Amino acid sequence: MKILVAVLCTLILVQGTKCAKILGVFPIHAKSHYFLGSSLMRGLAEKGHDVTVLNTFGEKNPPKNGSYRDIILTSEMTQDGVAYDLFQIVDQNFVIYNLFMNWMGNTVTEITLGHPEVQKLLNSGEKFDVVIMEQFVNDGLKVLAHQFQAPLVLFSTCGSNAWINPLVGNPAPPSYVPEQNIVFHSSNFFDRLRNSIIYTYGYINRHLMFFPAQNKIVKKYFPDAPDLDVLLYNASLVLLNSHLSTNMAVPRVPNMVDIGGFHLKPPKKLPQDLQKYLDEAKNGVIYFSMGSGLQSTNLPVEKRDALLRVFSKLKQNVLWKWESDVLPGQPANVKLGKWLPQQDILAHPNIKAFITHGGLLSLIESVYYAVPILAIPVFGDQIWNAEEAAANGLGRCIPYSQLDETKFEEALNDVLNNQRYRDNMKRRSKVMHDRRHTPLDDADYWIRYVIRHQGAPHLKVAGLELPWYQYLALDVVLFIVAVIFVVFYSFYVLIKIVKKIRNARSRSKVKRN
Ligand SMILES: *[C@@H]1O[C@H](CO)[C@@H](O)[C@H](O)[C@H]1NC(C)=O
Repeated sequence: MKILVAVLCTLILVQGTKCAKILGVFPIHAKSHYFLGSSLMRGLAEKGHDVTVLNTFGEKNPPKNGSYRDIILTSEMTQDGVAYDLFQIVDQNFVIYNLFMNWMGNTVTEITLGHPEVQKLLNSGEKFDVVIMEQFVNDGLKVLAHQFQAPLVLFSTCGSNAWINPLVGNPAPPSYVPEQNIVFHSSNFFDRLRNSIIYTYGYINRHLMFFPAQNKIVKKYFPDAPDLDVLLYNASLVLLNSHLSTNMAVPRVPNMVDIGGFHLKPPKKLPQDLQKYLDEAKNGVIYFSMGSGLQSTNLPVEKRDALLRVFSKLKQNVLWKWESDVLPGQPANVKLGKWLPQQDILAHPNIKAFITHGGLLSLIESVYYAVPILAIPVFGDQIWNAEEAAANGLGRCIPYSQLDETKFEEALNDVLNNQRYRDNMKRRSKVMHDRRHTPLDDADYWIRYVIRHQGAPHLKVAGLELPWYQYLALDVVLFIVAVIFVVFYSFYVLIKIVKKIRNARSRSKVKRN
């Protein structure tokens, strides 16, 4: 296989469109993150690149027609049984959220840089044309691109945000670009105030706490490496898992590229029993999944029973991703599946609604197939995705903490019976399908572009080099204010002097008279 790829690479090289040796760094031990990272790397392997993926899961079905190598980073964090009950971190405020992210990010960075497999790779003398890394509270890992002397491509699983925007100089004024974890209507003064406070707090947290801690970890393993301050701002390209069909319109500097939807695959044939089940459901089917991170089985009993009471009153069937064999009090119209092919199910015309946790992937898939949603967001970007989707009329949203039988019943019936949601979904879906290239083609093009242009420094905006007060033109404003002040003050002084002279003259006139 390796030889074949080498021969192919040489052949393609001769023709001028080189395939690259790519190192992917995806050390976050969360299935949805891994799924996106591995989808990207699989896609690139299928496009002829030679990919190596640092990750914690390992690819069960590596692409057959491509060179795909896993380097698996096992650690105490990846042990089976260390399953967090994510329903517990609902509704955290932004201070705790930042502390949690700092802790998680520092742990991941420390484990990854110190990992024997990573050290082995570094010492092997192997070279890469480009390093693609997930941007997710792991900034210290950018040192790997430096060590391999390869351009750095960042991949943001949750679109553009305050962690990535400043690193490439992408404008994101808090007056209208929402910070994470916040529901935001840009015209409302208090929303803008809250957004600005959370934005500023995040900025201070990164610069006073998180980056110094990351820098320490970097220096521990690579004492000769440049300071993190240098590495942070040296990314050549940022691939964003977002798109105008699912995210609001916000600025993009030239080296940011939206590839949201790249993980979508043309629908495959469903397993026979599911196909039959979906085909034969007279009144349609509601698909229900809380994603790969949250376990539906962890739902507290009273919330679960509330959902079941509502389901039992429906004429539609419910297909529920439920991670156990038994569901106490399971109504006759509810079917369970421990693992379900979500995209292929959503593609079925008999799906009437999707009850989701509001994860970005689920949202992208529901828009792609134009299925209205009822979102029950629990934490992090789910809340913000779900509220945004509801505000755009793509369905309804009930934050997990507010979930009860009455609210759930009302919202679900609304989503099922109000044509508005499906119409809006169809419009969005059209936007998602209306693209010049497939998102994976875009990713491939830009990665090759960055390699062809040795890191493509010409894509970087000059704003990146400016200190914050220059970026915000505060020095210019201050200068102009000072000039205006000096001019006015000079006038004032001049007028005073003139008055004084006049007064003196008139006084002397009076005296003379
Ligand atoms: C910054 O990126 C460029 C382009 O990939 C690379 O040549 C340079 O070595 C990088 N700088 C550092 C400090 O790693």
